[in-house]
Amino acid sequence: MSGHSNYEPKTGFERWLDVRLPVVRLAYDSMVDFPTPKNLNYWWTFGGILAVCLVIQIVTGVVLAMHYVPHVDYAFNSVERIMRDVNYGWLVRYMHANGASMFFIAVYAHIFRGLYYGSYKAPREVLWILGCVIYLLMMATAFMGYVLPWGQMSFHGAVVITNLFGAIPVVGPSITTWLWGGFAVDNPTLNRFFSLHYLLPFMIAGVVVLHIWALHVPGNNNPAGVEVKSKADTVPFHPYYTVKDGFAIALFMVMFACFVFFNPNALGDAVNYVKGNPLVTPAHIVPEWYFLPFYAILRAIPDKLGGVIAMFGAIAMLFALPWLDTSKVKSMRYRPAAKLYFLIFVVACFVLGICGGQLPDNQVIPGLSTFTLIDADLNSMVWLSRVATLYYFAYFLIVMPVLGLTETPLPQPESISEPVLSHPANAPAGAAASPEKRG
Ligand code: HEM
Repeated sequence: MSGHSNYEPKTGFERWLDVRLPVVRLAYDSMVDFPTPKNLNYWWTFGGILAVCLVIQIVTGVVLAMHYVPHVDYAFNSVERIMRDVNYGWLVRYMHANGASMFFIAVYAHIFRGLYYGSYKAPREVLWILGCVIYLLMMATAFMGYVLPWGQMSFHGAVVITNLFGAIPVVGPSITTWLWGGFAVDNPTLNRFFSLHYLLPFMIAGVVVLHIWALHVPGNNNPAGVEVKSKADTVPFHPYYTVKDGFAIALFMVMFACFVFFNPNALGDAVNYVKGNPLVTPAHIVPEWYFLPFYAILRAIPDKLGGVIAMFGAIAMLFALPWLDTSKVKSMRYRPAAKLYFLIFVVACFVLGICGGQLPDNQVIPGLSTFTLIDADLNSMVWLSRVATLYYFAYFLIVMPVLGLTETPLPQPESISEPVLSHPANAPAGAAASPEKRG
């Protein structure tokens, strides 16, 4: 997308098109000839996997929308009709519902890869921020999509989340009424959620184009975290990474198919197979798994407004990350202390996820019910989520800025190729002695 192009039109038509709309040149430069660091590992395949997930969600979503009826009296039944009467409707619906979960598995792998290898650092700050915008849009899309089947969890989840805005001082209640389109979650709410749920994925697609553009200007980061120095550090994207990405996408699709065909409701909630009823509140209102860490942060703070601020603050941290991390070294391969704090951060996120799924009640996790260390009345789940929440924020606001200034990193390689070429197995004599190690 930027810089010198090696594309040479071969046919008459290609030459004709190239001087009018050089789309083939653009595709060639960015997906065939693009110089890509030669040391990318499988964590770099999640970008391609995400692109496939987005296409699957849009295609299945458009088909579902042909049969779905966005009205509170018909929505639930229209989804049941898709499952039972529409040809392969069950397949399209299960692919869409499980596809959302696959999308989030891939995006979390993609984000944590970025955190570990410092892919958010200069000159990739804009690329990272565009990623954060995509993540926000994904969360909004998934939330509104979950409301559409109008099951019990759809309805009461929508009530809980929209009511959070009511905690904002002065304007909160007006914002909530505005979001609802009335004085309760009702038909106007369902209608606007359907409209926006259809629109947002196309906005995501637009931001993805910018994301990839912003990637192609500085080029990929890589596991060593040192920038490309010469042509020797790179290989063309095709066939090296088209094949590697293709293999990873195929594996990912196997996992996806296992969910769709063998346990399509494993990641969902049985309560959502009961039609939404404003007069009956489910005993345990819980969001989909991918929102659980944020739900735990929300509930960890005793004050409603405080909880809402902490929940949105947790996402805001990601946007500020390029400026919070003061380390000059990108990859945590060369930052042993940072690696340890990062590991604890990953554990804290999992702990938050587990806590977010539990009733705030001592009985729920066997063995943890006696774990009430500070206050006998404070249950273990709340206690655990508070510790994890504290660490989550401390990681961004204290560890990242301070560690970057105080740590002594390990020596970084001069270039991407250097650790490979200087490896004893690749020295001319060694290579001759053990030919199986070559390449
Ligand atoms: C629909 C969602 C997304 C799609 C389709 C997407 C696509 C891609 C692709 C194709 C790449 C290049 C291959 C790779 O590095 O894996 C990439 C790189 C990157 N993405 Fe995303 N992405 C998405 C979401 C995100 C999010 C949510 C973030 C962060 C919050 C993010 C941050 C990055 C970063 C920092 C890189 C550069 C990685 C590097 O070169 O080291 N992306 N993305």
